[in-house]
Amino acid sequence: MTQLRSPAAPHHPAHWTVVCRLDDILPGSGVCARVGQDQVAIFRVAGQVFAVSNRDPFTQANVLSRGLTGSYRTQDGERYKVASPLLKHTFDLQSGVCLSDNSVRLSTWAVKIDEGHVWIGSAD
Ligand code: FES
Repeated sequence: MTQLRSPAAPHHPAHWTVVCRLDDILPGSGVCARVGQDQVAIFRVAGQVFAVSNRDPFTQANVLSRGLTGSYRTQDGERYKVASPLLKHTFDLQSGVCLSDNSVRLSTWAVKIDEGHVWIGSAD
């Protein structure tokens, strides 16, 4: 089992929800799934899987799973991002932080891959 964690996600999620097969997500793209009351955008980028809120905080539209993914460099190495298809705000996929306004951050979820299925961890 591979467990991928985002620092902003709960470290010991109370609940895991299976959302899709890893093969259902084309490399470099995202899908959306409902987890509890939330729409979660799940991305497969560079061999990693990230889960952030599907809701664009600038427009309140549930569109981020359709955003364009990419990478950028920091002093700590390469990181991955998604651009909203609407106003093109860009968010770090691991932390959820908006790259043009760091006071805005998407919620993030813990992700694990088990036997080819993608699971999303949530606190409740
Ligand atoms: S929940 Fe229907 S497209 Fe995302």
